[in-house]
Amino acid sequence: MSGPAGADLEAAVRALRAGELVAFPTETVYGLGADAANAAAVAELYRVKGRPAGHPVIVHVAADADVERWVLAPPAYARALADACWPGPLTLVLPRRPGAVVDQVTGGRRTLGIRIPAQPVAQDLLRAFGGGLAAPSANRFGRVSPTTAGHVRADLGDDVRVILDGGPCGVGVESTIVDCTGAAPVILRHGGVTAADVARITGVAPEERTDGSTAAPGTLPSHYAPAARVQLVEPGAIAARATTALFAGSRVGLLALAADVPSGLPGGLVVLDPPADPDEYARVLYDRLREADARDLAVVLVVPPPDTGIGTAVADRLRRAAAPRP
Ligand code: TXA
Ligand code: MG
Repeated sequence: MSGPAGADLEAAVRALRAGELVAFPTETVYGLGADAANAAAVAELYRVKGRPAGHPVIVHVAADADVERWVLAPPAYARALADACWPGPLTLVLPRRPGAVVDQVTGGRRTLGIRIPAQPVAQDLLRAFGGGLAAPSANRFGRVSPTTAGHVRADLGDDVRVILDGGPCGVGVESTIVDCTGAAPVILRHGGVTAADVARITGVAPEERTDGSTAAPGTLPSHYAPAARVQLVEPGAIAARATTALFAGSRVGLLALAADVPSGLPGGLVVLDPPADPDEYARVLYDRLREADARDLAVVLVVPPPDTGIGTAVADRLRRAAAPRP
């Protein structure tokens, strides 16, 4: 695995202290980080990201940090989640400690999304920086999340001076978000920590509110979308759908688990390298969607993985990628 040299890390910390942005790897997707306590840095973050003000950003902290520097009185079930899943692909939404981050980070909310990522480069950066890093995924608003340093460079280019390269992300889809402000956990976004994990850890089957009613952009109906039109299909319908689209003159691709790719498909169909299992599907999902655009496909037919484990998060992102665009 490639990792940045110490000099890169020092440059990254210097940039953050100067109020500049740094892109860094996490185990989920690459983040675009700004000092969460610096209003000008956070304003620049929203500008580069192209994100509407009022959409809150997750704050990332080091594994040895005292999270109560940022949030107040986590309930027992939130502590249980933190103990079991941090560092890892989990974000907890908790009452914010006033003054710990600038108001723009939370879009004026009284709550804060906080996460301790596991990726070693992220941990080195957070430990060396010492503060909290406000970091959305390092892509322009509404587009496909980056899972390699190359994706970040392609998307943000010169708008971000320092990009730390930690190789491809190990999970590949964004963190699970759990609202911990009520009596029981509520899942706001599916990710690497599953609803079954949350139930096992907290002893309560979590409610789910992934419909955007909390104004979380990652829960907007249309999100995570490539330029190519994404269409969900059953394996049995691939051949007919592909034939129709090819006949209409479109460049058409297919993304599905290897086991779901039928034989005898029409010749013109571009079969994107199929993942072997749901974990690999999550890891390669955003790279394949970017490849669909690089290969100039007008349509990508997609077979979601089974809706269980990490497959739930993959199926969720694919549904949003396939949703009607505004
Ligand atoms: O895996 C991840 O979570 C990645 C990496 C970089 O950590 N980050 C990420 O950030 O996906 P972003 O900004 O693309 O998505 C963050 C989601 C948004 O849907 C946002 O609305 C929600 O988290 N969020 C953040 N703070 C919140 C809060 N206080 N209440 C409700 N939702 C919140
Ligand atoms: Mg995002």
